[in-house]
Amino acid sequence: MYQLSSDSEFAFILAEMLSLSNNFGANTGEILRAASQIKPSDFESWHREFKFLADGIHDKAVAINATRFPVSAREAYFRSASYYRAADFFLHGNTSDTRIYSLWNSALSDFDKAIELLPTVARRANVSAHNFTVPIIFYKPQESSNPHSTQELDDKGYGSRKLPTVLVGNGYDGSQEELYHSVGRSILDRGWNFVTYEGPGQPTVLRQQQLGFIPDWWDVVTPVMDYLAKRPDVDMRRVALVGISFGGTLAPRAASREHRLSAVLAINGLTSLFASLEKQFPPKLIDLFNSGNKTAFHHIVLSIMESSSYPTQFRWIIGQSLFAFNTRSPFEWFTRLSKFVADGPLLRNITCPTFVASGENDSSAPGQPEEMAELLGDKCTYNLFKTDLGAGEHCQLGAEAQVAQVALDWLGDIWDGVKTPRSMTGRVY
Ligand SMILES: *[C@@H]1O[C@H](CO)[C@@H](O)[C@H](O)[C@H]1NC(C)=O
Ligand SMILES: *[C@@H]1O[C@H](CO)[C@@H](O)[C@H](O)[C@H]1NC(C)=O
Ligand SMILES: *[C@@H]1O[C@H](CO)[C@@H](O)[C@H](O)[C@H]1NC(C)=O
Ligand SMILES: *[C@@H]1O[C@H](CO)[C@@H](O)[C@H](O)[C@H]1NC(C)=O
Ligand SMILES: *[C@@H]1O[C@H](CO)[C@@H](O)[C@H](O)[C@H]1NC(C)=O
Ligand SMILES: *[C@@H]1O[C@H](CO)[C@@H](O)[C@H](O)[C@H]1NC(C)=O
Repeated sequence: MYQLSSDSEFAFILAEMLSLSNNFGANTGEILRAASQIKPSDFESWHREFKFLADGIHDKAVAINATRFPVSAREAYFRSASYYRAADFFLHGNTSDTRIYSLWNSALSDFDKAIELLPTVARRANVSAHNFTVPIIFYKPQESSNPHSTQELDDKGYGSRKLPTVLVGNGYDGSQEELYHSVGRSILDRGWNFVTYEGPGQPTVLRQQQLGFIPDWWDVVTPVMDYLAKRPDVDMRRVALVGISFGGTLAPRAASREHRLSAVLAINGLTSLFASLEKQFPPKLIDLFNSGNKTAFHHIVLSIMESSSYPTQFRWIIGQSLFAFNTRSPFEWFTRLSKFVADGPLLRNITCPTFVASGENDSSAPGQPEEMAELLGDKCTYNLFKTDLGAGEHCQLGAEAQVAQVALDWLGDIWDGVKTPRSMTGRVY
């Protein structure tokens, strides 16, 4: 992929920001301008440029009379929300930094202003789980996008016709809000309900409930399924779960115990983030972890995070991980992360059809989507997304329409009862 920064981690996140332009979450010129000002490995310069952009677009949004010009206001608020999230992205190394909270509040507030102005219904709800709350956003498709629509919407905008529903969860660092721009509109355009959620470790739950990642992800998804089952507008025979990035482990984990799902999609398949980090981190560090010397491991990991001479990728993932696992101990993070696996015994417990995506040039966990597909066997459809068509990155970043076409057409076939050949070799839809 063409790199927008000589810092490969910055380049990746810039590409992610740029990709939001495909569905109203950013504008290319705005991102390219920010990219031109950001200094490699300088986290403050990253923050400064995105905060500048966020404030500038936010001010424009506020100045619009949203009653008269709802489209203009909505588009601006969606972008300022994205840029506030971006401004926060590299700040997590210091969890006392109050900007982590203020920027997030700005992002949520602008996003909520934007979804209020959608022509279709989008509502937040808080679902009670065992000892935490799962925030969700429920979006309904435009009536005209479903050719079989007969029923009128009631005055609250809630039609009672039961529709197929796609529940989507993000990964290690992403928000539920950005999912509207990456996959949400593609799902809604197909006439299906689109629902997002966040669990412990994910941005809003982490900030508002101080809860780090938990491996028992069914404890997050099952309460959401109970909630969906009570709604008059969800066809419970047609509910699919999609996991993006680290969600490629979380969603299959949830599906191993939540059997009301009619399909689960891992984009991309991830059997163990721990195993892939073990391969990417300096071997000396891993030896130290395995030796059980917590103090020495602690010091070396924190020294990597705090030194700008180490690659941004390592510094960022350490800060992000301690933040998302809600711990100050790198040893505890590593130990807990090792429990997040999608191995043979777990995958065997999945009873529905599964879709596993792989990016030809996804260097985050090479070989793991293929391993997952192999372990799932007959109940898996595997698709390799190609670099030469621009879809080879992690989660097919920037090729959102290609993922939507392949994954959602597969889902349509499952729901319509069309038999699809299952293939390990990359069926082209
Ligand atoms: C916005 O437009 C509406 C409808 O024309 C009008 O009633 C309202 O006064 C305007 N608000 C502002 C702040 O100008
Ligand atoms: C972390 O952030 C707090 C609050 O902004 C600040 O006082 C402190 O100096 C920061 N620590 C480091 C190591 O930068
Ligand atoms: C929630 O409950 C689980 C299982 O009972 C327990 O392990 C966990 O510590 C609890 N978390 C909180 C924040 O109370
Ligand atoms: C842990 O590592 C440190 C630094 O290498 C060393 O000084 C210390 O003796 C080790 N502790 C144990 C229990 O091995
Ligand atoms: C598979 O499901 C059974 C029955 O619910 C459960 O006891 C077992 O622990 C599950 N295995 C894994 C690896 O999750
Ligand atoms: C991307 O994938 C192609 C085809 O597999 C390979 O030749 C190339 O080396 C890869 N590039 C990177 C940067 O991984």
